[in-house]
Amino acid sequence: MVEITPLTPVFAARVTGLDIGRGVDAATMATLKDALDRHSVLVFPGQAIDDAAQVAFSEGFGPLERTRPGAPGAGSPVIILSNVGPDGGIEAPTAKQVLNNKANRLWHHDSSFKQLPARASLLSAREIPSAGGDTEFASMRAAFAALDPAEQAALKGRVAIHDFGWSRARVDAALVSEDERRQHPPVRQAMVLEENPYGPALYLGAHARSIEGMEEEAARILIDRLMAHATQPAFTYAHRWQRHDLVMWDNRAVLHRATPFATATERRHMVRTCVAGSAPTLAVAA
Ligand code: SIN
Repeated sequence: MVEITPLTPVFAARVTGLDIGRGVDAATMATLKDALDRHSVLVFPGQAIDDAAQVAFSEGFGPLERTRPGAPGAGSPVIILSNVGPDGGIEAPTAKQVLNNKANRLWHHDSSFKQLPARASLLSAREIPSAGGDTEFASMRAAFAALDPAEQAALKGRVAIHDFGWSRARVDAALVSEDERRQHPPVRQAMVLEENPYGPALYLGAHARSIEGMEEEAARILIDRLMAHATQPAFTYAHRWQRHDLVMWDNRAVLHRATPFATATERRHMVRTCVAGSAPTLAVAA
């Protein structure tokens, strides 16, 4: 029997009573889809799954994104977020896969730099460090609900420009090649998403560079203020990983970020799958 227990008064819930590796029936999938809409982050403890089982479970929520070229797992439905290299050893801090993980330490929505950004992500903890390496989440529905109604109305219909090359270069210029910039040109995204049956959400994050129709500096000030508002402790949940946890989140309702750990001496090996969005953010926000 599936049990869903809220983890904070605002969002995130622990889900117990199912063994994902054995498959999940249609009625339980319907319960989980509603739980994702309602709680935005679902924590499934004790799921010792392999990539195939993770892909099969993730596909129950919709078609999966393919990992972008240049990232470990490129072309497949899994992305490896790890400081462990192909030879099984810990990678140097300057290795591109380690720098990519560093970029994940900025609050973001997965793949908001794509025309059709991800709906949900599932992250499986295969190896975890003894300290640090938590993943933090911020509820963009709670953040939107707490805004003044006049500001809510002013933000609805606004469009932000999300730019992968710009956001990666802010972390490290070596992190983005000309090829990657060409593959991911800036895209337009709604600043408020109204697709969730439990309430609208802000949509911003590290890739949000500017706002259409606003001076660059004013846009930057507004984005930074909304990000600070959304990531205040009252709207956040920090997940302290146990090995074999699977955590799923709704990218259209939360921001997330990785946190530091001793990358040069400790191993952290995570596998992520992303459920593709079913519609662009602007079509659903219009
Ligand atoms: C991610 O940003 O999708 C991964 C977060 C993490 O590695 O904790």
